[in-house]
Amino acid sequence: MLTELITNAVKYAFPDDRSGTIVVQAKRSGPGRVEIIVRDNGIGMKNYREGSLGYGLIRSLVKQIGGELEIQGDAGVTVTIAFCDASRFPPPGGREPAAG
Ligand SMILES: Nc1ncnc2c1ncn2[C@@H]1O[C@H](COP(=O)(O)OP(=O)(O)OP(=O)(O)O)[C@@H](O)[C@H]1O
Ligand SMILES: [Mg+2]
Repeated sequence: MLTELITNAVKYAFPDDRSGTIVVQAKRSGPGRVEIIVRDNGIGMKNYREGSLGYGLIRSLVKQIGGELEIQGDAGVTVTIAFCDASRFPPPGGREPAAG
């Protein structure tokens, strides 16, 4: 997920000779809760294509870990992925089979 988001920022956020900053943050947003943020101050998400491969992959990976995805693309792009850390997952063998 990080590779895809950072690659996107490098590829699209700073066209032509534009320069800027890409920030990757990981933090505890609450007990047992983790937030990963990839943020750039580039051109923003003007050309987002619904159903594109990269975000399709990210959506399904976020779903797999029971996380939440938030994309803000007005002033640069900020993508936040929030999920529960490993201590909140049921022990091995105690997990329900994944649906779908
Ligand atoms: N950080 C960003 N800044 C500006 N535009 C972005 C950014 N990230 C994504 N986009 C836009 O959103 C579109 C969709 O991104 P996505 O990763 O889903 O597809 P892609 O990068 O074009 O293709 P792929 O990931 O399959 O190589 C991109 O084509 C680009 O136009
Ligand atoms: Mg991509």
